Amino acid sequence: MTEKPLLRVLQGEAVWPPPVWLMRQAGRYLPEYQAIRQEGGFIARCTTPDLATEITLQPIRRFGMDGAILFSDILMLPWALGQGLEFVDGAGPRMPPIRDVVGLAALDLSRAREMTAPIMQTVRQVHAALPASCTLLGFAGSPFTVACYMVEGSGSRDFAATRTLAYTEPVFFGRLMELLVESTVEYLSSQITAGADAVMLFDTWAGLLPPDQFARLVIKPTAAIVAALNARFPGVKIIGFPRLAGTMVADYVEKTGVDCVSLDTGVDAAAIAAGLPDTVAVQGNLDPMALIAGGPALHAESQAIRDALCGRPHIFNLGHGILPQTPPSHVADLVASIRQVS
Ligand code: CP3
Repeated sequence: MTEKPLLRVLQGEAVWPPPVWLMRQAGRYLPEYQAIRQEGGFIARCTTPDLATEITLQPIRRFGMDGAILFSDILMLPWALGQGLEFVDGAGPRMPPIRDVVGLAALDLSRAREMTAPIMQTVRQVHAALPASCTLLGFAGSPFTVACYMVEGSGSRDFAATRTLAYTEPVFFGRLMELLVESTVEYLSSQITAGADAVMLFDTWAGLLPPDQFARLVIKPTAAIVAALNARFPGVKIIGFPRLAGTMVADYVEKTGVDCVSLDTGVDAAAIAAGLPDTVAVQGNLDPMALIAGGPALHAESQAIRDALCGRPHIFNLGHGILPQTPPSHVADLVASIRQVS
């Protein structure tokens, strides 16, 4: 049996107290990250193994998290495929939009392996440096969410261009999704081979879709990725994060075959968990604002989540990424309170 509590939960065991890590735990709220951030661009940080390793380890050293998530970004895959990518301070990612098959033809799957080699080197270095109890999580964006940025060319409130194109150009959109399924399987396979203990698929914008589109653009590609990874790596554990999927979460879990579902802040964790098989792990769903608030509000919210999911496989986490204005002392306080056995 593994000595990593987080991995044991992914294998279907209820561990008490629940293991904890936080989405975006490596990042701007940490002074030690801010210090490294002065040194160059975000893409350079992701592709310089020594820097990315150091940033991945920072929250492990400071808080003793049960999980370490590789420091990289979901947009590094389209970047590796050949789409331009820039992170503009204060404005987020910028990419030349791809909206037709000509744009798609310029992407090159065979190039991605070479471009992502430094990221795999980071995985190997982190794997070698982590405490034996800490689970190393690799990740990728889910095809739909990655497509949102590739087609829109930037972040957006509603990804209107992308969602319209999914209706008006189904052939183009289908090909884009196929390319993303195939390249994501390769990308995650390389991370697993390099030492990731489990992987997570981030589908931040899944909840923008109505049920039939959700089935086609979220469930189907995710199920294909899960099936391909399970065929290559029997028993590999996969976390899915279909953000804002609400009532579609149970269907997502059943039809994709993920081992763990990450819940956003907008759902009642106990109610969703009641509709899932006992062996499926649940991760989430603390409001990042409660972590900024700290004190009694944070304690009440985190206690409620622990109580709601007590007795089933549960990984304590946020419902979305940690925000830059979060005081690191609140994170330390949260981790300590979760580990208090009561
Ligand atoms: O600590 C970790 O969680 C590991 C690394 C990680 C990052 N991004 C680092 C990052 C992970 C897992 C992500 C996932 C990611 N990236 C998602 C899915 C999860 C979510 O939060 O919804 C999405 C949609 C992205 C795309 C992305 N990357 C955007 C929109 C932005 C700009 C806005 C922002 O949040 O800063 C990024 C940049 C980014 N990714 C930073 C970090 C630490 C900030 C870069 C910096 O200022 O140094």
